[in-house]
Amino acid sequence: MPPLMLVCITIALHFFPESGGLCSDDNTTNIAPIFLVTFGSGSATFSSATPANFSFTTTYQQAFTIPIEDGYFAFTNAIPNVNTVWHTGALDHTPNDIDGYMFLANADPNPGQFYRGTVNNLCIGERYEFSAYLTNLVGPFGLAKPSVIFQIRTSTSDNTLIGQLDTGEIPEYSTMTWTKLALMIQNYSIQHRTIK
Ligand SMILES: *[C@@H]1O[C@H](CO)[C@@H](O)[C@H](O)[C@H]1NC(C)=O
Ligand SMILES: *[C@@H]1O[C@H](CO)[C@@H](O)[C@H](O)[C@H]1NC(C)=O
Ligand SMILES: *[C@@H]1O[C@H](CO)[C@@H](O)[C@H](O)[C@H]1NC(C)=O
Repeated sequence: MPPLMLVCITIALHFFPESGGLCSDDNTTNIAPIFLVTFGSGSATFSSATPANFSFTTTYQQAFTIPIEDGYFAFTNAIPNVNTVWHTGALDHTPNDIDGYMFLANADPNPGQFYRGTVNNLCIGERYEFSAYLTNLVGPFGLAKPSVIFQIRTSTSDNTLIGQLDTGEIPEYSTMTWTKLALMIQNYSIQHRTIK
């Protein structure tokens, strides 16, 4: 199968307070994310952590060594040297994150759900920015490209869609380049404090 690889680091939710919000934190200078997943760090090339360690689920299966086949993912601190088209040795994106792990997925041609997580205790009526850093770990070889759709849904039984972000085909880079994708969830009309 064609390599259809993507790597991802830092899934975050930032609070953008507005005056008059129902939550007590009206401090607009406080931009620390209320929710942040960076997949940890460690000296071993492959992390032994599982999605449960980061409170998410996935339909992908985990690899703890190479190869990483279609439909598999791994937490690794450098792109493995297994394929001449990969950016071997490229590192994650998180600042000040020595040996930081990234989520490396070999995208399955049959679309799967690579990340599903839940954020609780949101402030009703406020604004949040959902963001993720992504890249394509394949160099400029003109291969099939991965694409990702993020959907933000309420945790109510109807799981109402309140925001969607479609990356389109993530391009190949001559030097692996992280792109921040962000979505502002503003004035979400469904008033619930949990989203996923
Ligand atoms: C606002 O947040 C910043 C950064 O966390 C903090 O340094 C500052 O003291 C806060 N100001 C108020 C009024 O809470
Ligand atoms: C993952 O979670 C398990 C169960 O709580 C724990 O034993 C293990 O140390 C964790 N691994 C990492 C790498 O955080
Ligand atoms: C905010 O949401 C409410 C409820 O859905 C809607 O009536 C209103 O028009 C929205 N305001 C804006 C500025 O989008």
